Amino acid sequence: MPLSIVILAAGQGKRMKSDLPKVLQPLAGRPLLAHVLQTAKALQADAIHVVYGHGGDRVREALADEPVNWVLQAEQLGTGHAVAQAMPAIPDDHHVLVLYGDVPLVRVETLKNLVEQSSERSIGLLTVRLQDPTGYGRIVRDGAGNVVRIVEQKDANTKERAINEGNTGLMAMPASALKRWLATLRNDNAQGEYYLTDVVVMAVREGMKINAAIAPTEVEVRGVNDKVQLAELESAYRAQKATELMLNGVTIVDPARIDVRGEVSAGRDVFIDVNVVLIGRVELADRVRIGPNCVLKDCSIGADTEIHPNCVIDRSRIGPRNSIGPFARIRPESVLHEEVHIGNFVEVKKSEIGAGSKANHLTYLGDATLGRKVNIGAGTVTVNYDGANKWRTEIGDNAFVGSGSMLVAPLKIGANANTGAGSTITKEVPAGKLTVARARQVTIEGWTRPQKKT
Ligand code: UD1
Ligand code: CA
Repeated sequence: MPLSIVILAAGQGKRMKSDLPKVLQPLAGRPLLAHVLQTAKALQADAIHVVYGHGGDRVREALADEPVNWVLQAEQLGTGHAVAQAMPAIPDDHHVLVLYGDVPLVRVETLKNLVEQSSERSIGLLTVRLQDPTGYGRIVRDGAGNVVRIVEQKDANTKERAINEGNTGLMAMPASALKRWLATLRNDNAQGEYYLTDVVVMAVREGMKINAAIAPTEVEVRGVNDKVQLAELESAYRAQKATELMLNGVTIVDPARIDVRGEVSAGRDVFIDVNVVLIGRVELADRVRIGPNCVLKDCSIGADTEIHPNCVIDRSRIGPRNSIGPFARIRPESVLHEEVHIGNFVEVKKSEIGAGSKANHLTYLGDATLGRKVNIGAGTVTVNYDGANKWRTEIGDNAFVGSGSMLVAPLKIGANANTGAGSTITKEVPAGKLTVARARQVTIEGWTRPQKKT
């Protein structure tokens, strides 16, 4: 059945006490609204409408590339008014699913089920059982257990306030009927708002059935209003992601000390130590081991590679059987082939490193191409920047770069070449030979140390 999704995201979120609009507050490094949008997209609806208002331009800019129809709600006159703004763009034969931009963890399965409850004769309503329903609209049922209306906290009497089934706000219904109901909404209530929830009683009056689906867990329908709730959801998200990885066979030393902020795929027998942050798309092949305190962002790590403690890897491809770190930084656009060793205090940027090559200590490799089995001595620097432009360094197979070499790019070092320790190399180094470029050692006779003036 044709489906239009309406995401309500016009609210200000005063309680965030932030200049950032509420729906742009980050959860796992991405705006709340981006999470909702990702879920909405998974439902493969015919259209997604986002009702925005507060911080409008920033909200649109933050999600500029998304395939959504932006609907401005200039004044926030209530949830019913918000949905009404999107209705002109929705065909009568569609079903409408209403989502909230500040309810980020709702699952695709839950929503699929909700949408199935919507028909020409029924509304799907997602409700939740709550220990403390304060603040929520309450689900009022008749003696037979049928939902008859929703009453907002501020309009509820004592008896209604005792009801512990709350309205999540998420609902699905036929567009034509919804248009009819929205046109007759009134705002004569405690908050002076046009409540979307009032469509329930209208549907009941027309003899329609309210199919209330109770959310499987409270956390997936939880909204975010302040920074405390934001942190609670962050930790729920963290736990959920860690559980998914563990159920896929990943060994996680402490599930409370891993942060997955994106999509991680993992092969068999992957091991992840404490305080590891995985951001964006991270692919871990079989038997990858990640030591404590590592940050991996948008990267792939080949089979049997070990990332030692305290490494940062960003937008790079690391091959199989590598040894990285401790304390290594692999920056964007780096490609490391198999059996590469990158040791402590080594920075690699936009470089390709051939199979079996090693840079084990205190080195910068930027804009470099290394062949196979190259050995880079401690303290080597590719001097890639002249203050205006970046230049490349090419190092052939089996070359041996002596410790403390400054390789002033653009530069080529031939296969099997050696450079002497402490050399500042500015010209091409021929293959198979030793090249030394440093002042000859002299000892100054008769020299004395300066003395402190008295
Ligand atoms: C709403 C529901 C309540 C439910 C609760 C769950 C109504 C009348 N009440 O209450 O039954 O228990 O959510 O959290 O629907 N928004 C707009 N434009 C507006 C008003 C709101 O876009 O004019 C958006 C907000 O940005 C937010 C969502 O709608 O994403 C809900 O608004 P909020 O003010 O939080 O609704 P509640 O009063 O909490
Ligand atoms: Ca709310």
